[in-house]
Amino acid sequence: MIVTASAPGKVILFGEHFVVYGVPAIVMAMDRRAVVTVERRGDEAIHIESDVGIAGTFRNDHYKPAKGGAGDRRILEPVRIAAERVLEDLGVSSGLNVSIRSEIPVAVGLGSSGALAVATVAAVSRLLGKKLGHEGIFRLSYEPEKFVHKYPSGIDQTISTYGGIIRYERGKAMKALRVKKPLPLVIGNTGILRSTGDLVAMVKTQRDENPDGFNKLVRKARDISDLAIKALEKNDLQELGRLMNKNQQLLEKIGVSHSELEKAIKVARKAGAWGAKLTGAGGGGCMIALAPQEKVKAVADAIRGIVEPMVVKMTRGGVVSLILK
Ligand code: MEV
Repeated sequence: MIVTASAPGKVILFGEHFVVYGVPAIVMAMDRRAVVTVERRGDEAIHIESDVGIAGTFRNDHYKPAKGGAGDRRILEPVRIAAERVLEDLGVSSGLNVSIRSEIPVAVGLGSSGALAVATVAAVSRLLGKKLGHEGIFRLSYEPEKFVHKYPSGIDQTISTYGGIIRYERGKAMKALRVKKPLPLVIGNTGILRSTGDLVAMVKTQRDENPDGFNKLVRKARDISDLAIKALEKNDLQELGRLMNKNQQLLEKIGVSHSELEKAIKVARKAGAWGAKLTGAGGGGCMIALAPQEKVKAVADAIRGIVEPMVVKMTRGGVVSLILK
């Protein structure tokens, strides 16, 4: 039997970093997916092949590269952890061949690792005869996310599981938000890779050093998220853009922005975007601009050269799995 599963990447519209401290974040699943295909194998090994030109086999704790070097193990490890969590949870011991392919740029804040973890959990559990519900998939994909991001809020695997646009508050049930019109979004990728875990840790140090000052920013971030939910419900995209600009100011204050992001944000606003901000962990990675539909192309053209533009749409589809044969 061969099973395939896919899950979408994400764009955080509001509340990144502050979500770790209890602020509700607003996050959108985007129409770019990670795809994981699995089958059982005769031995107990987990063999993983990735479309980024890396492959290798895990036998107990030993890793044998087939393509790429021993150091590439780190890249495949979260997929292995996801697969093993499912095997453990279902009390099954089996070897697996896992093949991964992704349309989501890696390590730039678009949720590629969350989508991979979620798709792996869905594919492996279905292969082993158990179609997990959203809650189960979410639960089992936490550990691989922890491996990658150290202190993840859970936002990435939530949106990759459910799809759509959601309000995510740590420790609470997520809430799907109804959006009447599509959000015309342009992503700009700086191509500067960074570690979400390190950035989250850096923000935590700031909070530990100056809790009062930090909490003031947390309160402002909460107000922005609350207003953004109202604006989304009223379909007031102009107001949403204004709030994005405000959110960007807070992200600059906590030091997670980057000069390339700020250049692109400025240019996007000048080219007619209602608002623009970084998305995800920052420190490089990506920015987003919300623009009237007729200005989307002009905004994408204006930021090209500073960042790589990518026009994305919301997808309602969360994780899906399918028995191929
Ligand atoms: C990463 O996509 C978003 C952060 O807020 C970290 C997290 O919530 O896990 C930076």
